[in-house]
Formats: sequence, structure tokens, C-alpha cells
Amino acid sequence: AAPCDIYASGNTPCIAAHSTTRALYSAYTGALYQVKRGSDGTTTDISPLSAGGVANAAVQDKFCSSTTCLITIIYDQSGRGNHLKQAPPGGFKGPEANGYDNLASAVGAPVTLDGKKAYGVFMSPGTGYSNNAPSGTATGDEAEGMYAVLDGTHYNGACCFDYGNAEISSTDTGNGHMEAIYYGDNTIWGSGAGSGPWLMADLENGLFSGSSPANNPGDPSLSYRFVNAVLKGGPNKWALRAGNAASGSLSTYYNGARPSPSGYNPMSKEGAIILGIGGDNSNGAQGTFYEGVMTSGYPTDATENSVQANIVAAKYATASLTSGTALTVGSSISLRATTSGYTTHYIAHTGATINTQVVSSSSTTDLKKQASWTVRTGLANSACFSFESVDTPGSFIRHADFALVLAANDDTKALHEDATFCPQTGISGQGSSIRSWSYPTRYFRHFENTLYIASNGGVHEFDSATSFNDDVSWVISNGFA
Ligand code: AHR
Ligand code: AHR
Repeated sequence: AAPCDIYASGNTPCIAAHSTTRALYSAYTGALYQVKRGSDGTTTDISPLSAGGVANAAVQDKFCSSTTCLITIIYDQSGRGNHLKQAPPGGFKGPEANGYDNLASAVGAPVTLDGKKAYGVFMSPGTGYSNNAPSGTATGDEAEGMYAVLDGTHYNGACCFDYGNAEISSTDTGNGHMEAIYYGDNTIWGSGAGSGPWLMADLENGLFSGSSPANNPGDPSLSYRFVNAVLKGGPNKWALRAGNAASGSLSTYYNGARPSPSGYNPMSKEGAIILGIGGDNSNGAQGTFYEGVMTSGYPTDATENSVQANIVAAKYATASLTSGTALTVGSSISLRATTSGYTTHYIAHTGATINTQVVSSSSTTDLKKQASWTVRTGLANSACFSFESVDTPGSFIRHADFALVLAANDDTKALHEDATFCPQTGISGQGSSIRSWSYPTRYFRHFENTLYIASNGGVHEFDSATSFNDDVSWVISNGFA
């Protein structure tokens, strides 16, 4: 049995079932998600390898080879049509045209399930999915349950990395108008033990970790690479539970009455579905989603325990984030542009600005050093890399407002994440493309000889799709210095 078969036998059926990694019903053979590629704007659906099985990632890899791909739809497997699509503007606007949120890269969160490759949904700040015309979700004070399998190491403190029930208007319509899983280390409303990240319930105008609207020591900081986050709510009761999605069982962090501030009992749920954003389209949060469902009715702990066992049996594990030219930590490299007319240009820096400059064996020692980078283990993720300046040890290439700059490592989480990059086979077919770990839709790109992390089409000038594949493909060689 798969998760939604288990919920059905507990008389709390799934009314929404979302996953880019696997089927959530043992008989499901339909589409899991849709990707859209940058080369020609066409889309394709990714389905399971077999009924109830893991996603056929090879179809995505082939469709997206030598271009970029975005996840455009996460299909609802329940048959109710509760698909998740690019979230529209609400109380807050997203970064894309007309205030829409960003879509996620299709390659930011590779994993294996029982050894088979699949892709999760890696959501950078600005990314969001929703469905504001749902069918069968809980409204008012109706009972519901939900779980989500997330990357417990990918989070931030911005509002709000959520999955679950929210306002159909994408605006804040008041306390109790949401009931969604939250994951991160936001402390504006509530918090748990330690410094986070925590599983909390986003009930609108509050992230709740237990009965107190503030700190609840029973809600622990979590550090599982794969976390199963569970939330359920019914008339004057709700519970928060979680566990390691790769082994063991669930723990209950809270099980009790609704919070006392007005508006949360009874609830006024509206039934829209959100992923990666707050109820009002607050979109500063980040996180990674692999699978999740919402149910009708209040699942028993026993049902949720069986679902946890099923998730563990699916055997989630990490997969390589890189491909192409292998890099050796500690070595010095230089990166040459491949765009016609720029093939003598290398990535260098002038002060804090990262740019391209013409460099050769007869260049000055200073310029050679400015164009040489020591490969370091990724500051935010050891499966990727960071690039330290040869002439300014202690300073790294990072992005800031999507421009690449040279910055001293201040050992903050923000610097570490902004300075972590995952090289992959060059998108043009030549060399390597250097993908931002934290914004995997974005790659090292030269634009008017200045370096950015650019997406293949987008709102910035430097996101121009013209010449994108060549501008993001670099030949990596031994460093000049
Ligand atoms: O409840 C926390 C957040 O507050 C909600 O997600 C959002 O709608 C509001 O800003
Ligand atoms: O470069 C994009 C973002 O801009 C970085 O993550 C952040 O540090 C800055 O605000």
C-alpha cells in the first residue's frame, strides 16, 4: 500500500496528493509533474516507472538535456484536480512578470528512492505554487490531516515555507484562515526548543509550535536530511508530529486544544492549497518538498504511523548534485568563456566585482591571480563547491542581488549559501555550467563582461534567453596561478 491507500483504509482519504518523486497510490500510473524547457518552451509530463512506482527521471533528463527546465505543474494524484501551479500575486507580489512567484528548477533536488533517481522541488526565496480553486479540501472548522516529506537541512527564517490549507484569495483574511505545515527557523510568531529549524503550524498570523502562541520547548529543533512533517486539525484539537523520513518512527510534539488567541477556535479554513509560501503569498522562504498529501477527516496516529513506515520503506537517499568536469578540492582553476567572440575571457575579479577579463600565459602575475580560484568544499553543502580567490584568500565568489561579487567569508548562513555552487555538464554541450546551490534556476553567466547568476529568461536584463546556453558554459582548466 502507498500513503493514500493507507489514509483511505483509515477512512481519512487523500483529497490532494502531490509528489515529484513517486506515486502516492499503489495503482497510480498518471502524471506526477510537468516540466517546461527553456530551449523551445514546450512541456512534458513525468510519470511513474510503473504503477505506484518512482518517477521516471530519465524522461526529464532526456527532455531537459542541453537546456534548462522548470517544474510547471505538480499534479494532484487524488483525481480531484487539485494541481499545484505557479502562485499568483496576493498580499505580496512574486518576482516574476505580473507578480507571479518563481517556478522551481527541475534539477535542484536530486535524490534516489530505493536506488532509483528522482527529483524533488527545490524552492528558493521567491518560489511558490498554489491552487486557489480546490476541490474537497477542509473548510471552516472541518477536520483534515496532512504530511510533507521535506529536506530538513534546507530552510530559512523568512515567511513562510508552508504546505497545506490557505486562503483562496492569497491574502491574509484573518486568524484561523489557514492550516498548513511550516518548516524553518522563523521566530516572529512562535518557536520551539533550541535555535531551529522547527515544524510549526501556520494558522494565519501565527506559526504555532504548541499551545502557547510563543515558545514551546516540546517542539524540538530538527536536523534530519529527510523529515516527515505531520499536521492535523479538527474542532478544538490539533497535533504536530514528525520523524526522520529515512528511518524510525514519528514523535508527537503537540497534541491538544486550539490556541487561545481569538480566531483559532473555531477555525475558518478556506481550503486553498499552498506550497513554499505563506497564505498571503509571502515568498521569502526556502525549502525542498518531495511529497505530501492532504486528507479529509482527522487521521489517527496509527494511520500516520503506517504512512511513516511506508515513507521509510521508499528509501529516500541523497544523490549527486554535480556532473561534468570533476573538480578537486584544494586545486586552483580558471574558467574560460565559450561564447563566440569571448573565448579569450576568463572569470576574474576587480575589487569586489566579478567580471571577465582577457587573460593569457603572458598576462601579469597580478591578473593571473585575479583569474584563479581555489576550489573549496561547498560552504553550505559539501556535495557542491565554493570558489576562493587566489589573490584574496578568505574571500569567495558569492551572489548578492543576483550579481556575483567577491566577499569575505563572514561564516554566516547567508554567505555560505550564496557562495555554494554545483557544477554540471555545460548546458551548451561545452565545458561546465556552474549552478547556484541556493537558486538552482540560475547559473554563472557573463553579461556585458560582468558575472551574474542568471536564469534562462526572466525579469532581469541579465536573464536574457539570447545567447544563454553559451554564456553559462565555461571551460575549466588548471588555474593561471
Ligand atoms: O501566519 C504566518 C503568516 O502570516 C502567513 O503565512 C501569512 O499569510 C501572514 O503574513
Ligand atoms: O543574489 C540573490 C540574493 O540577494 C542573495 O541570496 C541574498 O544574499 C541577496 O539579497
